[in-house]
Amino acid sequence: MINDSPIKQFAENRHAVGQSVVESFLRITNRATNGRNVLVFGYGSVGRGIAASFRNAFASVAVVEPDPVLRLEANFDGFQVPDRAAGLRHADVVITATGAQDVITAADLDILRHRVVLINAGHFPAEIAVDRIIADPRVTGRRDGPEGITTLRLTDGREIHVLTEGHMVNLGGPRPLGNSIESMDLGFALQARCLEAIARGRTSPDDVVIPVPAWINALVAEAFLEQYLG
Ligand SMILES: NC(=O)c1ccc[n+]([C@@H]2O[C@H](COP(=O)([O-])OP(=O)(O)OC[C@H]3O[C@@H](n4cnc5c(N)ncnc54)[C@H](O)[C@@H]3O)[C@@H](O)[C@H]2O)c1
Repeated sequence: MINDSPIKQFAENRHAVGQSVVESFLRITNRATNGRNVLVFGYGSVGRGIAASFRNAFASVAVVEPDPVLRLEANFDGFQVPDRAAGLRHADVVITATGAQDVITAADLDILRHRVVLINAGHFPAEIAVDRIIADPRVTGRRDGPEGITTLRLTDGREIHVLTEGHMVNLGGPRPLGNSIESMDLGFALQARCLEAIARGRTSPDDVVIPVPAWINALVAEAFLEQYLG
């Protein structure tokens, strides 16, 4: 289970995705992050990296997370934790990172701010129900503006921007870069070391799905520190 390795969790899911979502926002919108009210849905590894990266880019960040322990942690990490309606009413930028479906739907149209930017960073393009939002009778116009931005006009004149049609933002839009080379390097090293361990008989034939052994995490971490920082 590569995804459960602490290295994958902090290097790619938290730090690299956080950085690449900020990079994608800047590249696609050409708008500043400074002072923006950013609302992040989900406080798993991906959500916490996005929240931290936008805060580091001088945004004002809030988190919506149903798990009360993670919500408390988000608050201890210094983020606002409003209920979802209050958060949505206030947000200039909404980012989903949950792995769940229909996190943002047409039912939210009435409370979204004029010119809000909707972004998905989760794996599947179902976190924001883009098709059903577009089909909603309150949406009277659609403009496919600069690459990666769809602008919807509502009956009351408000506009809503959706990035990369709700697909993972760091893999969509013009010239997507995905996650950093360093984080991919670490992920591929974990995969290679795990395959090597199987090939060399260092795992039991009874093992089916197992965590990355601690000694492989240590090996990859030491090799990275020596290679990149040594
Ligand atoms: N964009 C990328 O490059 C990239 C990289 C890695 C993972 N991912 C994807 O990001 C998503 C999140 O990954 P993770 O590792 O943080 O997952 P996770 O399961 O650790 O965390 C998801 C969090 O979202 C919360 N959540 C669920 N439904 C919610 C809702 N309706 N509103 C608010 N919060 C809700 C959960 O309680 C959980 O804490 C997954 O889909 C994953 O595949 C994307």
